[in-house]
Amino acid sequence: MTTSSRDNQSLFIAANWKMNGTKVDILALVRQIVSSDVIRNKPSTAPNTQVVLFPPFVYLQYVHEQIKNSPVQLGAQNLSQYDHNSAYTGEISANMLADQHCQYVLVGHSERRQFFGETNEIIAAKFQQAVRHQLIPILCVGETEAEYRQQKTQLVIQEQIASVIRAVGLPAFQRAIIAYEPVWAIGTGIAATASQVQEVHHHLRQWLAEKDREIAQNVLLLYGGSINASYAKELFEQPDVDGGLVGSASLDADQFLEICRSTPRACE
Ligand code: PGA
Repeated sequence: MTTSSRDNQSLFIAANWKMNGTKVDILALVRQIVSSDVIRNKPSTAPNTQVVLFPPFVYLQYVHEQIKNSPVQLGAQNLSQYDHNSAYTGEISANMLADQHCQYVLVGHSERRQFFGETNEIIAAKFQQAVRHQLIPILCVGETEAEYRQQKTQLVIQEQIASVIRAVGLPAFQRAIIAYEPVWAIGTGIAATASQVQEVHHHLRQWLAEKDREIAQNVLLLYGGSINASYAKELFEQPDVDGGLVGSASLDADQFLEICRSTPRACE
């Protein structure tokens, strides 16, 4: 699946490794994923589970070498908001990511917003760069714990998405994915309940449908935040949950593959 079109038989699982791993760890992890039944499509498993790995920049080429003969795809965790071939020491352009076999890129992860000062405007510029270079952006949105308590979830995520729409236009979402990641659920072990996630995704899809029904129906909505194997099946049973963005559990091949197998729509 190289586009982001939605169908009820598919599950999209993104592994966000963050700043973890060495070549030795990565080799073991990727080998186990690539040789698994999930990826090799043995009959008992879901035929349409798309797995995308998001290693740190320096390991993109290395991971590409390991997955290139498999259906596993590659993405980057971040990109520069600036154009290629310009003087921004330490930055990585969208063009470079495409050149390194990336098909996807995370944009606006809450750790980028929180720890690196990424504003909605910077995130919109990054999204635009991704789209320009045929990368599929996974736009991460989500409310903080205080915003959650004040029942501002929808307002916050709608503004996060609206600021991107203002910069790039809604049609850009024909080839984009949205990941709802409540900040209070990331890395805390406290995931939003499956019904909470469904409610947020449902409202989000309705809000998008007011702007463009087709885009709302087709855009993949992922959930992220403390996903683990015991919770994944219930989560992925929700009609508006199209997959997951998995952080810490994606560093453990057994856990991660268990999550990938949690595909009720395809397994039953
Ligand atoms: P987590 O991270 O699964 O460790 O909570 C998710 C994410 O940050 O994307």
